[in-house]
Amino acid sequence: MPKILIQKGKKEFVEELNREVTTIKQKNFFLQNINKDFQLSGSLISKNELKKNGEIIKDNRGKDFLIFESTFVDDYKRLKRLPQTIPLKDIGLILAETGINRTSKVLDSGTGSGALTIMLANFVKEVHSYDVREDHLKAAQDNVDFLKLKNIKLKKQDINEGILEKDFDLITLDLPEPWKTLKHCINAMNIGAFIVCYSITVPQLQDFVEAVRKEEKLMYVKTVEIQERLWEVDGRKVKPKTISIGHSGFLTFVRKVLK
Ligand SMILES: C[S@@+](CC[C@H](N)C(=O)[O-])C[C@H]1O[C@@H](n2cnc3c(N)ncnc32)[C@H](O)[C@@H]1O
Repeated sequence: MPKILIQKGKKEFVEELNREVTTIKQKNFFLQNINKDFQLSGSLISKNELKKNGEIIKDNRGKDFLIFESTFVDDYKRLKRLPQTIPLKDIGLILAETGINRTSKVLDSGTGSGALTIMLANFVKEVHSYDVREDHLKAAQDNVDFLKLKNIKLKKQDINEGILEKDFDLITLDLPEPWKTLKHCINAMNIGAFIVCYSITVPQLQDFVEAVRKEEKLMYVKTVEIQERLWEVDGRKVKPKTISIGHSGFLTFVRKVLK
């Protein structure tokens, strides 16, 4: 089981400046292999110390570190990502708005490096995931193996050509031309189930919503953009961080409302 090792940050009061200054910056490390000593810019933490969990451990110079077993989200953040992976802020809304749970069956396409597929699989019964590119499916399979998830079925399939399974509670689309698969989605979804389409650009979003409105079995619900603003909280210095995530994508929610 991988571990998270944290070098504790330290602040000291500097009289000349009449204020606290960070003398050691907090650093986090992901340790895949704890069966050997860990070396860190001149110091060393022995493998015996690394075996501890939820304790303060020391390096050979007596410096304090924290250590604990990694959880799903720590491992998830280590996935090898291809460009244009859906960020966590957007995945959170998909989960909350669609209400999917341990009984749900989900289809995700395109797979890409499998980031969305994998996060969905952590919440639902099973996830089927289609991509047209062999190399992307291979990257996704490596990520699935890394997280040891058993409820994911990756398939080389053009979703515009058809959907091979049925009874989905949610279909997520992150593709260049998502409107081309709408008829297949309708046939493969349960009544009341959702389609969530992730669009990067406004024209893509417009074309998708226009196509949805032509389908009487589908109901357009809403389009949302989540802006995440990070804050710096350090003593009296409490302000938005200068660099935050800008635009990622638009989430369009659609439901199947007719048999
Ligand atoms: C932006 S990536 C998806 C990223 C993914 N949602 C994630 O979070 O990692 C888009 C993927 O869609 C795939 N794709 C494009 N057209 C497709 C189609 N018609 N059917 C299935 N996959 C398709 C591409 O090969 C690419 O891997």
